[in-house]
Amino acid sequence: MKAEPVPVIAVGLCGLGTVGQGVLKHLQRARGDLEARLGVRLVVRRAAVRSLRKVRGVRLPAARLTTDALAIARDPAIDIVCELIGGTTVARQVTLAALARGKIVVSANKALICAHGAEIFAAARRHGGHFLFEASVAGGIPIIKALREGLVANRFPRIFGILNGTCNYILSEMAARGTPYARVLAEAKRLGYAEADESLDVQGWDTAHKAAVLAWLAHGVWVRPEQMIVEGIERVAPADFANAAALGYGIKLLAIIERDYARGELSVRVHPTLVPAGSVMATVAGALNAVSVTGDVVGTTLYIGRGAGQDATASAVIGDLADAALLLRQGAGARLMSERLAPAGECRPAPLRHIRCRYYVRLTVVDRPGVLARVASAMARSKVSIATVIQHAAERPGAASLVLTTHESDEQSLRSTLQAIGRLESVLEQPLLLRIGDFADRR
Ligand code: HSE
Repeated sequence: MKAEPVPVIAVGLCGLGTVGQGVLKHLQRARGDLEARLGVRLVVRRAAVRSLRKVRGVRLPAARLTTDALAIARDPAIDIVCELIGGTTVARQVTLAALARGKIVVSANKALICAHGAEIFAAARRHGGHFLFEASVAGGIPIIKALREGLVANRFPRIFGILNGTCNYILSEMAARGTPYARVLAEAKRLGYAEADESLDVQGWDTAHKAAVLAWLAHGVWVRPEQMIVEGIERVAPADFANAAALGYGIKLLAIIERDYARGELSVRVHPTLVPAGSVMATVAGALNAVSVTGDVVGTTLYIGRGAGQDATASAVIGDLADAALLLRQGAGARLMSERLAPAGECRPAPLRHIRCRYYVRLTVVDRPGVLARVASAMARSKVSIATVIQHAAERPGAASLVLTTHESDEQSLRSTLQAIGRLESVLEQPLLLRIGDFADRR
């Protein structure tokens, strides 16, 4: 008996950089398995590249390459458009052009979703297309699926985690080997973890984009990075790892999304955070990501996996291509689980005085009598209570490094404290503020 021909689904790959090449490589490598699992053949019919002359590690006939990504989005022969260009200009045009034609768009572009998500999802709804974005958050960890499918029964008082592989790689290497910041950053770029503009990684913006996507999914509101507290890792120094270790903590760049359902408030923030040395979060090293999701029904669930790099991201993109194939096979009107989880009640931005934790403050001060007393009295005036003090000689002659931890306080009080301390003539550098994430100990 002759076997039925396998239906072919045509994919257009817009962008053949690190992730695009990974998608092509694994679609070709796993072709047999994917066909058996999906009952269709996913074929990359066309790919858009910046340069036709560039030599790449994957092969596609020259006739399938173009420099015009929009032509792929508009091509009636393409069923699924995979947007892996990055950025928010051409990527937005390609996405909207494909959605306007009722196509399915698969995207890894967290910056685009964060900036234009409302417009993109509205376009998908209006034209009966779909926008799938698993690869946009936490690389290979299927966190989008987990939230909107497996955890659909829940409200989410807290979601937090490590969402940037580059920063986690840098912090882990600095902590474990004392490798200088610049050298580890160069290595992260070589390994394909970092964004084309690495300041998006190290200044916390990439994490903020991903936090915005998770917050929207879980709470149904778009929080812009300007509305969040966003602090990167550039000012974390080797001494901070030693100080944190002496206090029983490691340092991680965390995204924290907290919803106070009783008050109707949501806070989304990104900052380097002291996490208890014995916690699972503290052990998540290298380019791994980890997301802790606390649901009111399920309790806390934890997801760990590779958060950046070619293969991990390709795995998530191909997961979306598989969902897209399913949607196409089911025909018009087919839907996956809800694109976002419906908001429950009011959801205003939390004021700074409601964002509470303990704090770590490192100061470089003139080493002379009375300085500690002046710092302590500035803190007392803002009603911030000191818990511990560590003092070391600083690198500058005649200066001391003063590390204070506080009892629980709030962002408003800490801001006014730091302003007052910064005005003291005996304080020589801008203070470094780190949050202490004691909640990270809870599984
Ligand atoms: N630059 C990102 C990271 C890539 O380092 O996590 C994955 O989104």
